[in-house]
Amino acid sequence: MNAQTKPNPGLAGILVALLAALSSGAIAAGIADTKHNLSVTGTGTIKSTDQTEICVFCHTPHDAIKNDNIPLWNHTLSTTAAYGTYSSPTFDATDAAEIGGVDATTAAVSNLCLSCHDGSVAVNSLNNPSNARPTTTMAGGVTNITGSANLGSSSTALKNDHPVNFTYDAALAAADGGLKAPGSLTGVKLFNDKVQCASCHDPHTSQDPTGMAFLRVSMSGSTLCLSCHDK
Ligand code: HEC
Ligand code: HEC
Ligand code: HEC
Ligand code: HEC
Repeated sequence: MNAQTKPNPGLAGILVALLAALSSGAIAAGIADTKHNLSVTGTGTIKSTDQTEICVFCHTPHDAIKNDNIPLWNHTLSTTAAYGTYSSPTFDATDAAEIGGVDATTAAVSNLCLSCHDGSVAVNSLNNPSNARPTTTMAGGVTNITGSANLGSSSTALKNDHPVNFTYDAALAAADGGLKAPGSLTGVKLFNDKVQCASCHDPHTSQDPTGMAFLRVSMSGSTLCLSCHDK
């Protein structure tokens, strides 16, 4: 009996430990190899010379900028008053709302991205710096995004980008005629039923084979687009 029962819990124990090691490693390894690792171990050009923590640039366990629509946020929000909103004669969504001029109580998930990607706020400007390192120095003094990853902070900045911050529900799918049922989406993500930057992007990792652009679904064959659009 012993010989038969003993190996099973042993094996199960090893598997549990292995899975735990793999999954905790996977989170760190995932973001650690991306441009969103702004710590000393970062692989991009915008990185710290002294901060060893990775999550701190975006999240804090305590004293976060919190409203019920965002996760434990730590990066200083942008004060940009207006980004503009997408419009076209065939755009059917009716509630696409301006996301400029928001504050901590009204910020949406897309404002989290724009807190760095509108180029107006230093990436090391934090709400609650880590106790171990109250100030963070950036390599070469480069603190703001200035290249093609800077979407801009003008009042028309988002007019030429895929629309965000609008409700994607069954009524919209019916009105548009070329959208999948929102309940049947796979890979992509809606936030309170809304399309946001993070509907297409996962800021922690990328499913695209090129490893680029933090995409939730690969752009090969435009699979990402076809996750929502029935074309
Ligand atoms: C460059 C910014 C950035 C960094 C760095 C970052 N996150 Fe996030 N995180 C976000 C944004 C933006 C969201 C909201 C969008 C979303 O849910 O994908 C988010 C959401 C989350 C969520 C809630 C949604 C989910 O996926 O479960 C968790 C948990 C999380 N992050 C954990 C972490 C941890 C742990 C780290 C460090 C290893 C980390 N994040 C580093 C930007 C970041
Ligand atoms: C704390 C600041 C910060 C936040 C918040 C942040 N990013 Fe970034 N992101 C960066 C930096 C820095 C880069 C590198 C830019 C560069 O090299 O010019 C980057 C790069 C990117 C890139 C380009 C990746 C590549 O390989 O070229 C994408 C796409 C991106 N971010 C999307 C997002 C999205 C979407 C969100 C929100 C869900 C977000 N980011 C939130 C700082 C941030
Ligand atoms: C409908 C899907 C979708 C939405 C919504 C979306 N993106 Fe993207 N984004 C993409 C794709 C796909 C790429 C890669 C494009 C390419 O390779 O040319 C990309 C590229 C980027 C890049 C890299 C640009 C570069 O040339 O370096 C950044 C930064 C970025 N997105 C940020 C954002 C932010 C911030 C938002 C919200 C305001 C957002 N994205 C909303 C799909 C999306
Ligand atoms: C998360 C779901 C989702 C993803 C992924 C997505 N879209 Fe969209 N897209 C929508 C929704 C919803 C609308 C709004 C449709 C409407 O109201 O007419 C929209 C609007 C558009 C529009 C404007 C339509 C108009 O009538 O002006 C275009 C063009 C478009 N998307 C192309 C793309 C492309 C290209 C990709 C891939 C890079 C993509 N979308 C990825 C959900 C998505």
